[in-house]
Amino acid sequence: MDKMTVRDIEVTGKRVLVRVDFNVPLDEESGAIADDSRIQATLPTIKYLLRRKAKVILASHLGRPKGKVVDKLRMTGIAQRLSQILGQQVGVATDCIGPEVEKSVASLKAGEALLLENIRFHPEEEANDASFAQQLAGLADIYVNDAFGASHRAHASVVGITEYLPAVAGLLVEKEVYIMETLLTNPAHPLAKLVGGAKISDKIDMLENFLDKADVILIGGGMAATFLKARSYEVGRSMVDDAKMDFVTKLLEAVSRNRARLLLPVDVIIAEELNSEAEFKTVAVEDIPPGWKIADIGPQTVKLFQDELAKCRTVFWNGPMGIYEIPRFAAGTEAMARCLAGLRATTIVGGGSTAEAVIEMGLAGKMTFVSTGGGASLQFLGGNKLPGIEALSDKTPR
Ligand code: 3PG
Repeated sequence: MDKMTVRDIEVTGKRVLVRVDFNVPLDEESGAIADDSRIQATLPTIKYLLRRKAKVILASHLGRPKGKVVDKLRMTGIAQRLSQILGQQVGVATDCIGPEVEKSVASLKAGEALLLENIRFHPEEEANDASFAQQLAGLADIYVNDAFGASHRAHASVVGITEYLPAVAGLLVEKEVYIMETLLTNPAHPLAKLVGGAKISDKIDMLENFLDKADVILIGGGMAATFLKARSYEVGRSMVDDAKMDFVTKLLEAVSRNRARLLLPVDVIIAEELNSEAEFKTVAVEDIPPGWKIADIGPQTVKLFQDELAKCRTVFWNGPMGIYEIPRFAAGTEAMARCLAGLRATTIVGGGSTAEAVIEMGLAGKMTFVSTGGGASLQFLGGNKLPGIEALSDKTPR
């Protein structure tokens, strides 16, 4: 990475504000942390700073409170979990700016950490407001971005703050960028992209960018319906992204002029409704009756995708193959997770729901890398610069 990291700067005794992405999934009923992977992923940076006796001020968003205080999105539970994992007390500030927070920071001793309250309780955060960024910056001597998952957001704690402090990358950001850069510029071939999920819009750049980089692109999930329709298949009442039909048609045309082969499902699980009660069955893609909806890839497609992936030395996966939350439509996603886990290849799982599925199945440890950034990794792999990374100091000044 051509950006300075926390290793390139003297941190001992300094107040270091670390932007982390503690936007963890919460259990809907109890509000408890459903998965703490994002907290775990920032430990190398936090421990690095604590060992060097920095005063660590952690800042994160949690959920989308839209500029208001939302009690269930307070950071208290996260501070508790972090304290347990670190084996040292991490307090929560009453807010993220203001005199009380300044007092809490002033009482921090070298080697101690404090977590600021949810940064998105202030509308100025998402507006990248300069005076808010300056107030945040006023708490610290150094800024570290370790929130890869939020680095595609030009927000005050990600971008604005870098105007006022020396700004460097944390160890997680360094690792994520290294992995994504290698995927873009120097992957071991054959390289497969396994892409699913419902939305095409956030994957457009990534799909285009990999037409001449990947050897094979495998399409599953809700988005497969739009691809199948573009190839003139009947897709019943499956959700088709009409606004993206032109893009998909052009992409399919461009395949023959590019490196990558593009494979669509050959069979699918269809259901009358996408719930746990309605009738469902497996059909070939040419036999989808009007009125039914695609809910998952079918067993023939699983086999086809497994055979393709088995030939690859690098696989990147983003997006579930079906409606993973409904157990009867989770088989495709589970089969792909198990397949990747068993490959002797570099396997990289994009963040978001794909990462959640792999973690839930207990297979994260069998992957080469599970990214903490959903939207951020798609943006990066789409060839776009991430504002939160761009804003950091260059290693060699330009
Ligand atoms: C994520 O969960 O992808 C990041 O934390 C960013 O969250 P956001 O999409 O609400 O900006």
